[in-house]
Amino acid sequence: MLQSTQFALREGEIHLGIGHPEEALLPKDLLAQAAAHRFAQNGAAFLQYGADVGDDLFRLELATFLSRHYGFKVEPNTLYITNGISQALDFVCRYLSQPGDVIFVEEPSYFLALHIFADYQLNIIPVPLDAEGLMVDELEPLIKKHQPKLLYTIPIHQNPSGVSLSEARRQKLLELAETYKILVLADEVYHLLTYEGQAPTAMAAYTESKQVISLGSFSKILAPGLRLGWLNAHPSLLDKLAQSGMVQSGGGLNPFASGVVRSMLELGLQDSYLASAKAIYHSRLDAMDDALKALPLRYQKPKGGYFFWLELPEAMDATILLEAAVRQGVSFQPGPKFSAQEKLSHYLRLCFSYYDSTILKEGIARLYTTMNTM
Ligand SMILES: Cc1ncc(COP(=O)(O)O)c(C=O)c1O
Repeated sequence: MLQSTQFALREGEIHLGIGHPEEALLPKDLLAQAAAHRFAQNGAAFLQYGADVGDDLFRLELATFLSRHYGFKVEPNTLYITNGISQALDFVCRYLSQPGDVIFVEEPSYFLALHIFADYQLNIIPVPLDAEGLMVDELEPLIKKHQPKLLYTIPIHQNPSGVSLSEARRQKLLELAETYKILVLADEVYHLLTYEGQAPTAMAAYTESKQVISLGSFSKILAPGLRLGWLNAHPSLLDKLAQSGMVQSGGGLNPFASGVVRSMLELGLQDSYLASAKAIYHSRLDAMDDALKALPLRYQKPKGGYFFWLELPEAMDATILLEAAVRQGVSFQPGPKFSAQEKLSHYLRLCFSYYDSTILKEGIARLYTTMNTM
């Protein structure tokens, strides 16, 4: 079978594990409008080899967009344009770590980031998480014991748990990072996808400290196929990354997509798309929450992002449940995938961004049937 996207679904299968935007929501028309705008301008810099850290005009536009959404000033010279967060993480590991260095990660954490850290032979140490995010109060003895070089956190609408790091814990984390010279990699991919209440201050506010790198992406707020994101850090850290032979030879990362998205930003299309996507995701979140009430699962309702993290009754194993669920035509991501120590066997992650509310409800009805037959 020919495959174009990351997942190839079986006929009729509802895969609640897929953490992608729904294809029907991807803004083809808006991107076509933005591309037409970019092509109609004088010059063709966006088709040329680009500047190492990214096109200055795009960085300026992106800084204005982020300043407006974050509620504090983002300076263009603190932004490095990337191929998305995955590439940015790869880059940070490549240039700012050595094999064997310790990296702290949340338990649970985004499993594909764990693969990137393993690629660079980092020593991955999990740190527990609760309803307020990473348990920062438990960190100091662990820091003394393991002397981490890096700490990877998803501080808002965490993948998979949905929780957000409280303001107080953010401050404490910054203090510890300064004291012990730990580089905090804050993956803020879901920051602009807050549907209820006020988001805490983005970690991007603290990049004056050389201990914080904030990572952002257009994957979840526009389209993953663009492979476009940004790394937000002190300019001295950007200088180190700009030494990359690959970037210097290749001319920046993705000048073409940067040019098109610059038009999205200039024309206000990104803002209007973000507002409509948020309204859709919010209603899907509520639909999933409603449907889940019938199931014997414990969870905290997320306030943003893409995911529900569910605790099964103690005796139930998510991997065994998944085998039975697949036979009922529904799939999900089992907890151990998100564990750096193959634990969390009675948890599972469901995503609400990939299907409309009707299909989400049908998927959860199938899960309900599966659980009743166990
Ligand atoms: C926490 C987190 N970080 C990063 C990514 C991937 O980001 P990108 O597409 O920008 O590489 C995802 C996608 O699921 C994610 O959930």
